[in-house]
Amino acid sequence: MTNYALRRQRLLETITTDAFIAVNWEDSDPVSLRYLTGFTGEGSLIVSPKYVALLTDSRYTEQAAQETKEIQIDAGRGWNVKGLFDGLSGRSLRSCTYASARASVYWLEEMGKLGSLHLNSQRDPVAQLRRIKSNDELDHLRAAARVADAALGKLVSRIKVGMNEAEIALELEMLIRKSDAEGIAFSTNVSAGPNTALNHYNPFHHAAAIKPGDLLLFDFGATVHGYRSDITRTFVVGKPSAKDRKVYNAVLQANCRAIEAIRAGITGVEADAVARELIVKAGFGDNFGHGLGHGIGLEVHEAPGLSPLSKDSLESGMVVTVEPGIYFTGIGGIRIEDDVVVTDTGCEVITAFPKDELISVG
Ligand code: GLY
Ligand code: MN
Ligand code: MN
Repeated sequence: MTNYALRRQRLLETITTDAFIAVNWEDSDPVSLRYLTGFTGEGSLIVSPKYVALLTDSRYTEQAAQETKEIQIDAGRGWNVKGLFDGLSGRSLRSCTYASARASVYWLEEMGKLGSLHLNSQRDPVAQLRRIKSNDELDHLRAAARVADAALGKLVSRIKVGMNEAEIALELEMLIRKSDAEGIAFSTNVSAGPNTALNHYNPFHHAAAIKPGDLLLFDFGATVHGYRSDITRTFVVGKPSAKDRKVYNAVLQANCRAIEAIRAGITGVEADAVARELIVKAGFGDNFGHGLGHGIGLEVHEAPGLSPLSKDSLESGMVVTVEPGIYFTGIGGIRIEDDVVVTDTGCEVITAFPKDELISVG
């Protein structure tokens, strides 16, 4: 049995209807199709105990045949709502489960108009399966982390005062594109000075020039075989101030202690609290607004969550980020983010770029 067939079998064990359906229409759900079949294009997928089909069209026929060797590809039938409805009803699949987190209201309304099909929603059963990674997935995640580490390593010595955030981000993205990776993992954040306090900053919107005394934050990643890395390192342009050093050390302690605490069995709330308590003790409790981390895999943000609101417990084989940060609006922020594989005895840190001190650049 292939990895994909095994995943589909495990998915069917979690549903009570005749079939599971996933629709990747205008990028609505690329990950479920990729995870369950290997196909990276647009189409609708029907998974049932006796019948698995990918409904797509002529734009993807050859690609689908290359990417999925084992399931029926139906490129003649439209893969839109009508094609999917006919694909189910023509095979007497009268009830199906879909992921409410991924289906559009439009699509559901249109399915409802076509006839009597019992639609059952679960939030996202495929995402639940995806939380624990196989050895192949872990290898891809390690490779994605290595690409990100290497790109930053090549970039650091090229940074000069006067370059702007966008130029630096573009250079970083080129280094990633020139490697074995498929591409970047998400919108690259290179931010300088006060912009480092903006957690999802886009350097291409403002392109501020870097100047001595600025903090310079990189939050970025690479994608390898669909699997992503997500790393943050914060530098200083020229000499750090005493406050920069103090804040950096508080973030570093929070990052390192949380990594020491992470192992199978710890909850997302507990892992977050290890970092948060240290930051509170250092006097910066009001300046750490987001959670400690999130799962990472085919998506940059996926289950489980590590935060005061998390309902998750960590299990061996999960991969999560550990990313405490301290931010001062209008002044700047410092974050250190690593990706770790959870094991029964601890965790394996797969991002390796140095972090032990606030490094000067420029
Ligand atoms: N790159 C976004 C995040 O760290 O979650
Ligand atoms: Mn990040
Ligand atoms: Mn992250």
